[in-house]
Amino acid sequence: MSVTDEVLEILARDPQKTLSGEMIAQQLQISRNAVWKAVNTLKKQGFHITASTNSGYCFCDDVVTRRGMQACLPDLEVRILNSVSSTNSYLKAEAETNREGLVIVARRQTGGRGRMGRSFSSPPNTGLYMSLFLRPAMQAEEAVRITTMAAVAVCRAIEAFTEQKAEIKWVNDVFLAGKKVCGILTEASVNVENGRIEYAILGIGVNLYEPEGGFAAEIKGVAGAVFGEKTGHYADRFACEILRQFFSFYHGQPYIEEYRARSLLTGREIVYSMQGEERRATVVGVDDNGGLIVRNTVGELSVLRSGEVSVRYDKGEIKNG
Ligand code: BTN
Repeated sequence: MSVTDEVLEILARDPQKTLSGEMIAQQLQISRNAVWKAVNTLKKQGFHITASTNSGYCFCDDVVTRRGMQACLPDLEVRILNSVSSTNSYLKAEAETNREGLVIVARRQTGGRGRMGRSFSSPPNTGLYMSLFLRPAMQAEEAVRITTMAAVAVCRAIEAFTEQKAEIKWVNDVFLAGKKVCGILTEASVNVENGRIEYAILGIGVNLYEPEGGFAAEIKGVAGAVFGEKTGHYADRFACEILRQFFSFYHGQPYIEEYRARSLLTGREIVYSMQGEERRATVVGVDDNGGLIVRNTVGELSVLRSGEVSVRYDKGEIKNG
């Protein structure tokens, strides 16, 4: 790790407290001037650090650290990047050699991607942008289970850290108090000979905090954040909790009942577009494979598969997502 990253690790694990430059210098066996230089580099990278000549440095963000992640999930390989185009794309580029369980976390994304070719706003140091590389023993049509497992995992993590109930907007969005706080994008490569998944990349984007200056104009109405003020260091434990919960489902613990119980579309009227055509229906529930069961205006039941449709619920506060 570079000196700058080492200094970041120390500061980020003890935010909102003033740490003396002398103490950091001793810990890293470097000069106080080298600490000062590293802090300036970090500030240029967008981290909020206040410095005072007599007392030291105070870190005002809450970001994932390598040591924190390793401490709570020692069996996973976690790589942390300050900035990347997209953590999903990063893993895709190395897909042939990646091992199951490799995790990439970025502190910002410059080209974050969502479902249906949309972009995913990923401002620096306020969100969790994380991708997990998997080699699941699954057929292509089961891939949606990875998304549904992850959605329940994120809800559980949110509830471990807040008092609020998290809900899922089929198939991949997590909502808190009527606002979207998380989106999930699962991408997979399939062997066309046998229909089996060669690898899957699970991408999870969570708005931990509202960005400085608010959310981008195009998502302002719908986006929300998990936490309010930055008061401590939660990012590591929050990310680990998502992964821990996800792996318990991935290794067989049932989750689909919980997904159903958290489904905020169930019982509601939706508008969905399929092959460019808009249709109305009422949501009856979610089937065992993560399909959305709907009843159309003449009473016929059908199941929507996630790859085929984009759903809008436009009675009430939730619009796109
Ligand atoms: C959506 O809302 O449609 C899904 C958003 C998924 C965003 C995450 S952030 C980490 C990973 N990298 C990406 O480019 N996208 C996913």
